[in-house]
Amino acid sequence: MKKILFVCLGNICRSPMAEYIFKDLVKEEGLKEKYKIDSAGTSSEESGNDMHYGTKEKLDENHIPYGKHRARKMTKEDYNNYDYIIGMEYSNIRNILRIVGQDDENKVHRLLDYTENPRDIADPWYTGNFEITYQDIIEGCNAFLRYLESGNK
Ligand code: 4NP
Repeated sequence: MKKILFVCLGNICRSPMAEYIFKDLVKEEGLKEKYKIDSAGTSSEESGNDMHYGTKEKLDENHIPYGKHRARKMTKEDYNNYDYIIGMEYSNIRNILRIVGQDDENKVHRLLDYTENPRDIADPWYTGNFEITYQDIIEGCNAFLRYLESGNK
């Protein structure tokens, strides 16, 4: 089983969107049993809070199911418990490394680095544009799943 933790700053906009999109993708492809998927934030600012309304709206529009979400801050233990720690933008990667120390096992990556156009996913908390976030995350999740299923470790 491959264990994946998606990480953003607050764990209310981008990383839960990635969590539920990726869960839906693996379910649709009959791969559900092969993956454990969760999300977390690098800040405790929103801890305990539900997803942002804008994220829920995009998931609803695209018929992607989600459960009750409670934001949480990622911990050092998460580094041991997951195989892939996937940040949304470069500043997430920096913050993740602050929490975990060194990435000795090369687990920490940026989502859109799996695509042909590596870039950050802008924070919709600031931009207000959840549609661009949704399109970026769909592109990243598809590329990441192709990578994982192509025999790469
Ligand atoms: P996210 O967006 O990292 O995509 O969940 C944010 C949500 C909340 C805050 C920042 C970013 N905040 O500062 O509370």
